[in-house]
Amino acid sequence: MDENRVTFVSKIGMVAAAAGSAIGLGNIWRFPSQTAGGGGAIFILVYIGCVLFFGIPLMTAEFIIGRSSRANTAGAFRKLAPGTPWIWVGRLGVLTGFVIMGFYMVVCGWTLDYIFQSLTGQLFSVKDYAANFVQLQENHLKQTLLTTIFIILTALFTLSGVKRGVEKSSKIFMPILFLLLIILGIRAVTLPGSSEGLAFLFKPEMKNVKSTVFLDAMGQAFFSLSIGMGCMTTYASYFRNDVNLTKTAVQVSVLDTLVAILAGVVIFPSAFALTANPDTIISDLVAGGPGLLFITIPQLFGQMSLSALWSTFFFVLLALAAITSTISLMEVTTIYLQEEYRISRKKATFFVCIGVFITGTISSFSPEFFNLLDYASAKLMLPIGGFFISLFVGWYLDKRMIMAHITNKGTIKYGRAFLKGYIFILRYVAPIAILAIFLYGLLS
Ligand code: PHE
Repeated sequence: MDENRVTFVSKIGMVAAAAGSAIGLGNIWRFPSQTAGGGGAIFILVYIGCVLFFGIPLMTAEFIIGRSSRANTAGAFRKLAPGTPWIWVGRLGVLTGFVIMGFYMVVCGWTLDYIFQSLTGQLFSVKDYAANFVQLQENHLKQTLLTTIFIILTALFTLSGVKRGVEKSSKIFMPILFLLLIILGIRAVTLPGSSEGLAFLFKPEMKNVKSTVFLDAMGQAFFSLSIGMGCMTTYASYFRNDVNLTKTAVQVSVLDTLVAILAGVVIFPSAFALTANPDTIISDLVAGGPGLLFITIPQLFGQMSLSALWSTFFFVLLALAAITSTISLMEVTTIYLQEEYRISRKKATFFVCIGVFITGTISSFSPEFFNLLDYASAKLMLPIGGFFISLFVGWYLDKRMIMAHITNKGTIKYGRAFLKGYIFILRYVAPIAILAIFLYGLLS
């Protein structure tokens, strides 16, 4: 093992860092808009199924690959399967991380703009929140600038050696964000007319559902849990040996799912309560696309006293949740360049930033490009990565090694039965489910 690789300090810090990667704009921005498009409650049910059937097992699989190899995600496959094409799964992951940054950073930029707009009170002087968001989307230069600022902020963390900073900030800010979402959720569901929003979220209705619901939910699960691209592999390469990988995967996935559902409980009841046209609300939600969070949340704050204060607080926390995710994304590509091409961390970070600046700028100017990167990463690249990661751990890796890692050296009773069940999921259940959903989604 390379002694120069810094490890996370505390156990709770490791859960916090992995949760920090998972919890981000994916939960609070992307989950609600996918839920709207996917038809509400049925989407959420499929989503939870995906988290249980392959989300948690795959996260554990990535943890095993990372901690047993202690290398970047491509290097990990080379170490564990020397001289085989498996390394391409790692390389695909690095590319996927790069693709995600190309649109994710733009949304991060939006959060910065909303912090400024809240601070200056501008957000609440315009009454038309939708027009306000469109205005931002049409101001390409401003978006490019904000995106660039966020890339640089992320790079500063990446350069200062990630672990300590991420560990600390995730431990403090994630719980605060969680609390704030609970408060906002309570406010939202007590608005008159909000109950239909809750029904949309929790009462399954076939009439809202589209045939792409499976692929949408699966893509969202991969995206939100940060799996399928080696992000969790990379973080696990810094894990200490005494961390219980299965337990960590369960904790991170449960937290991540809770935050997503909470975000839904804030957004949908607000959207239904505050809409001007209740008859067209569902189609409006779908048409609103990526703007949902940035339109509905300010609308909700507009209903509260001290709106600017709440709003600033919310968008600052959102930006913090976003940066713990972008740090994990940038880490994947940076440590890959650093270790595989033997260049300094500085140089590696610099190259990644230039690359993301280019794709981020194109995304700032073209919503089509933005959507293409979103679609390609969540619905194509992550599931393909996840499919192969599942096969790799299920079929290729040595069972005794997996056993030592997932049972935390025998602390789990019935270790053998547990291992058998786990391997069965990775060999058959997860890959077949992923493949079926993938093909069904693409062909329907
Ligand atoms: N999971 C993060 C979110 O929900 C996004 C992400 C995807 C981060 C993949 C790392 C890897 O915001």
